Amino acid sequence: MEREPIGVVGVGWVGLVTAACFAELGHEVWARDIVPEKVESLARGEVPIHEPGLPELVTKNAERLHFTTDMAAVLEQTELLFVCVDTPPTYSGDADLSRVRAVVERLPEDAEHALVMKSTVPSGTGAAIRRDMPGLAYVSCPEFLKEGSAVDDFLNPDRVVIGSDPGDEWAADAVASLYEPLGGEIVRTDVASAEMIKLASNAFLATKISFINEIANVSEEVGADVTEVARGMGLDDRIGGAFLKAGIGYGGSCFPKDVSALKQLAGNSGYHFQLLNSVIEVNELQKRRVIGKLTKHLGSLVGKRIALLGLAFKPHTDDMREASSLVLSARLQGEGAEVVAYDPVATGAASGLLTGTDFATSAEEALDGADGAILVTEWPEFADLDWAAMAEKMRNPVLVDGRNFLDPEAIRAAGFRYEGIGR
Ligand SMILES: NC(=O)c1ccc[n+]([C@@H]2O[C@H](COP(=O)([O-])OP(=O)(O)OC[C@H]3O[C@@H](n4cnc5c(N)ncnc54)[C@H](O)[C@@H]3O)[C@@H](O)[C@H]2O)c1
Repeated sequence: MEREPIGVVGVGWVGLVTAACFAELGHEVWARDIVPEKVESLARGEVPIHEPGLPELVTKNAERLHFTTDMAAVLEQTELLFVCVDTPPTYSGDADLSRVRAVVERLPEDAEHALVMKSTVPSGTGAAIRRDMPGLAYVSCPEFLKEGSAVDDFLNPDRVVIGSDPGDEWAADAVASLYEPLGGEIVRTDVASAEMIKLASNAFLATKISFINEIANVSEEVGADVTEVARGMGLDDRIGGAFLKAGIGYGGSCFPKDVSALKQLAGNSGYHFQLLNSVIEVNELQKRRVIGKLTKHLGSLVGKRIALLGLAFKPHTDDMREASSLVLSARLQGEGAEVVAYDPVATGAASGLLTGTDFATSAEEALDGADGAILVTEWPEFADLDWAAMAEKMRNPVLVDGRNFLDPEAIRAAGFRYEGIGR
């Protein structure tokens, strides 16, 4: 069976995963980006991001993957254009739609393609594009992949949301048939609701994280253990255990900006979304509480050498967008500490961002001679460290486990003063 060729516009995390996965499903994929170096390296089979399984998929499907800077070539070859450009926050906290507009405005006026919006955009974006470009069909198909397991998430979706408005059903049907082989439940709805499903999902997950972080902070006051509390709560089907892990807060390219975008969208529409203000504030304060956990053991941090273990916003990625390590490094230096940092894959991405920080090439090197350490990202290799040997190497074996990742008893037995979050 001849498979529909696919156009992808914007070949970053979402775009490259989309392109590689549709190629894996047997489609010819024409993928366009505006950064020539990125396109050239992808054409050579080099994947510029750390995402498990992605390089293998790109190599395996190289014959079906066509990377280009030329939009005309994509338009000529395809009818469905998956838009995967970035929508970062503006200074006002609204979503910056300039890249989305740049894509739409450069389409020829007589284009009769279907735009399939995978970028996260505020409700109302699709309606505005449709008004401006009446010849285009428009489908909202928000992406829910998680960095670190993006390929698996794409190929095994929990659900696929497809929003279309009257007149564009043909395009929504075509998108639905692309996803049918993957087996997730397909949620057909209108465009505005599809756009809202994405923002509301991320805002809800962020709310869950801020909620359990506040429970952690209260647990510290009353002598409860938040990991036990979360276990007991999560077994209730109505609550669920996912995203009930207390820690130093959420980061990454999506939650902070999407929570802010939803808050602004509500405000711009005349509604004050009070809950989200608290979610954001709790998350900001949570990172800073770590400093108090260090000073409890070390007193003033002036001149103290503090090791950051893990820099990326989560394990199995080198994405540094809104990573907690950025705030922690700046705050520690503000307190007069020297910061030494290690991450298994994100050092390159972090080096231009973590100013004034020394970089180590291993966790052992970062901990050598340190007065304290913060586990920032729960990379599995940190569980396998010889912590007794690490305690010997450090000047002061103080560890703040920002992700409640390690076994407190084992770390204390190794000679550490251990501080978790909410336990
Ligand atoms: N990263 C995630 O985990 C994730 C998950 C779900 C949804 N999203 C959403 O998907 C969208 C993309 O996110 P991302 O993380 O892949 O972003 P990204 O920054 O990794 O990639 C965006 C790509 O678009 C390219 N681009 C910008 N303008 C362009 C244009 N006019 N034409 C062609 N290419 C252009 C950029 O050069 C870049 O390669 C965002 O809206 C994001 O919120 C991201």
